[in-house]
Amino acid sequence: MEHVEIFDTTLRDGEQVPGCKLNTGQKLRIAAQLDELGVDVIEAGFPVSSPGDFQSVTEIAKLVKNATVCGLTRAVEKDIDVAAEALKYAKRPRIHTGIGTSESHIKYKFNTTPDKILERAYEAVAYAKTFVEDVEFYAEDAGRTDNEFLAKVCAVAIKAGATVLNIPDTTGYCLPDEYGAKIKYLMENVPGIHTVRLSCHCHNDLGLATANAIAGVINGARQIECTVNGIGERAGNTSLEEVVMILRQHPKLNLATNIDSKRLLGISKMVAEEMGMMVQANKAIVGENAFAHSSGIHQDGMIKNRETYEIINPKDVGVNESSIVLTARSGRSALAYRAKNIGYDFTKLDLDIVYSEFVNFADTCKIVTDNDIHYIVEMSKNKFQLSL
Ligand code: KIV
Ligand code: ZN
Repeated sequence: MEHVEIFDTTLRDGEQVPGCKLNTGQKLRIAAQLDELGVDVIEAGFPVSSPGDFQSVTEIAKLVKNATVCGLTRAVEKDIDVAAEALKYAKRPRIHTGIGTSESHIKYKFNTTPDKILERAYEAVAYAKTFVEDVEFYAEDAGRTDNEFLAKVCAVAIKAGATVLNIPDTTGYCLPDEYGAKIKYLMENVPGIHTVRLSCHCHNDLGLATANAIAGVINGARQIECTVNGIGERAGNTSLEEVVMILRQHPKLNLATNIDSKRLLGISKMVAEEMGMMVQANKAIVGENAFAHSSGIHQDGMIKNRETYEIINPKDVGVNESSIVLTARSGRSALAYRAKNIGYDFTKLDLDIVYSEFVNFADTCKIVTDNDIHYIVEMSKNKFQLSL
């Protein structure tokens, strides 16, 4: 299996979610868990952005034992000086520098020319190299950058000494086949590309961040930038738990990560709590309903064999067990299963009677609980002769 590095940016891009700012203590707690989880790189923050973020990056650099610790900068000397200072205690420091490369960024953000962007890219990487060996270059808005120009930018960054090239779909615009083709184009057209690692950094504005990152690694990228629970600027980033489990559940891709998947639910809950940003119930892998089954047809299959309706063993992601949720859409087998768990062993006739009470009751509420089952059995006993 080839190794795909997991670059976690929960503490940088993830923390850009409005209202989710973390203090240094919170960032340290999350960083320690990310290191245990097995991420290869922790993007700890944007050191020049505030004294608090500088302090957080400095403390994380001191704390983290295994992962590379990375700090973001613009292609600006002052930013790079400050990041280098914040990272000076890191065992494995990385400076992440870059500049916008799309037509709209060149024209409206920088009011400059493509040649000037090439110069600034070279200078920023070369300057960062005077502080650390490991320099990642990002071509902001690469998703909307013309591939020929993007290849020129990448070649310049490699010449200046970049070790990793980040190809962000900053606005979440690309379709998976377009993003995959972009990575393939760079793999085939940039001199020296095989001496560096290409990285996918995808945003979720059209709900394609995970699909795009996977298309990227299928076409030769070997790093994915992602966040726990997929949080991040606007609609968020590629979700860490999703890409990790996609690679794990599809061995034919021949790509593996170092992530200890049993820790995924734990870290998801921790990040949700520290950030005050709850996870939607239907979120893949870590949502409350990711392993909950409520319709009669599915429940019947699940009770016979879990694999009929689950492609992941819940234990593999830290979920104790799948759940059979009773609703008005549930069938007899689910009711019998849940009732048995709380001590009722129905005959076929009992089950028919209790089930007819159950469906009437279930129509009046959203979910039928264990307490409700006791109540429904008592009601049934009052009306009919049960053999219980
Ligand atoms: O989305 C983006 O382009 C970024 C860069 C700063 C890496 O977050
Ligand atoms: Zn981003």
